[in-house]
Amino acid sequence: MTRDVYPPSEDSFLLRDAALDEARPDDRALEVGTGSGVVAEALADETRRVVATDVNLAAVRAARDRGVPAVRTDLVAALDASFDLVVFNPPYLPSSDETPDDGIARAVGGGETGREVAERFLDEVPRVLAPEGRVLLVASSLSGIEEFEENEGFDAERVASDRYFFEELVVLRLTQ
Ligand SMILES: C[S@@+](CC[C@H](N)C(=O)[O-])C[C@H]1O[C@@H](n2cnc3c(N)ncnc32)[C@H](O)[C@@H]1O
Repeated sequence: MTRDVYPPSEDSFLLRDAALDEARPDDRALEVGTGSGVVAEALADETRRVVATDVNLAAVRAARDRGVPAVRTDLVAALDASFDLVVFNPPYLPSSDETPDDGIARAVGGGETGREVAERFLDEVPRVLAPEGRVLLVASSLSGIEEFEENEGFDAERVASDRYFFEELVVLRLTQ
């Protein structure tokens, strides 16, 4: 894996384990922002089909190296399909720029509030979500968790959480 790709980390494993608990054998699954592909690769064994996206070409290549079909696109823009399960560990640290050029900066920087990429994702994901579809989204206390729970488009439930030093990470299960 190149240094330009977000390495599997605590948040990756928190999402991976929550995704494995949530996955059903008939699910058509999508991982947005796949990075190394570690989450999507695990989902491939537990679902009917998995597809991944990332805006970073090096990440798309890393996921493909794990056997995950991956597309380079912004969030879900290039997809024209319906998914039962969509998972996303978004960039969630407050940053001065939502779209810096550097791959790692783009993996962690979520704009001024830290929630900008994830909020845009929540606006766009309904287009590719099946009627009974479920979304798993990682959120951090460093940029706000309640704000996602109060999103009017979704019902939210905390399905996993962990504490790392001064940060709480949660996985939210969102349904429409
Ligand atoms: C925190 S990393 C998570 C990577 C991987 N899913 C994991 O859990 O280890 C966020 C990922 O989202 C990708 N990303 C950032 N903005 C994106 C966007 N607008 N569309 C698609 N992917 C994006 C980054 O390139 C990065 O790979």
